[in-house]
Amino acid sequence: MLQQFNPKNESIKVYIDGKLLPREEAKVSVFDSVVQGGDAVWEGIRVYNGKVFCLTEHLQRLLDSAHAMAFTDIPTMEEVKSALFKTLKANEMQDGVHVRLTLTRGLKTTSGMDPRLNKFGPTLIILAEWKPPVYPPSITLSTATIRRNSPSTLDSKIHHNNLINNILAKIQSNLAGTDAALMLDLHGYVSEANGTNIFMIRNGKVFTPTADSCLHGITRATVIKLCKENEIPIKECNLSLTEFYTADQVFVTGTMGELTPVNAIDGRAIVNKSTTDEFVRINALFSTLTKSKGEVIV
Ligand SMILES: Cc1ncc(COP(=O)(O)O)c(C=O)c1O
Repeated sequence: MLQQFNPKNESIKVYIDGKLLPREEAKVSVFDSVVQGGDAVWEGIRVYNGKVFCLTEHLQRLLDSAHAMAFTDIPTMEEVKSALFKTLKANEMQDGVHVRLTLTRGLKTTSGMDPRLNKFGPTLIILAEWKPPVYPPSITLSTATIRRNSPSTLDSKIHHNNLINNILAKIQSNLAGTDAALMLDLHGYVSEANGTNIFMIRNGKVFTPTADSCLHGITRATVIKLCKENEIPIKECNLSLTEFYTADQVFVTGTMGELTPVNAIDGRAIVNKSTTDEFVRINALFSTLTKSKGEVIV
């Protein structure tokens, strides 16, 4: 699945450190930490009907990630929120919008990895694009040989810009001709797909891998909460590939594509042997929530 260029994004304005710049002028310095070492944290955020979905959750994860990376002069939640609203208003964006919000460690005095070379505070970049959910009605996965980072190497509790782990897996999926890569943790349990979290349903019960190696996704947390509130059994545990191959239903979750069913993994069709369609129910609950929950753009 390859995203297509949307001509509506030709004339967007991009926020960089207080300035709203036309797309072609929206650039960061070669001395910025994101160029030097992928030294940045980010959030993908969605706008529905004039409201930003799960905004506090996204901004808290951003600020926690920046704190864990020992950034200095981290902006407050209110400051980031106001910059985001300013960007959305300048672009007259109310719906069908995806925002990539990045906070880098900022400019360095010279090239190098040492954070002591950073003397100017973080750089805030807000790229808002016209982008309805990006996935087709259902997708295929293939298992990558590259394992998902563990907390002993690069903790996924930091939502960092160092995405090489996932990009290498995605290259394998592209070569295999599938829509996304399924990534295992260091012990061989399923962790997540290269850019989304993963769930499976068996006999009416929902399962998802523990958030040890995968990103602690906000859509993932929303789905878990919706299941609990609606008395749909849900369990976070270690899950093997075989359990996914033989599940009744499998779906991936993420801000970019919402909830998307998986129809095959490594060439094994996902066949629903039960008489119910729990995915449809959970997806409907999620859709309803996106229409009501969110922070109004002011
Ligand atoms: C590796 C990975 N997993 C899962 C997700 C989904 O997270 P969320 O639901 O917070 O968008 C993302 C999104 O950034 C991701 O990069």
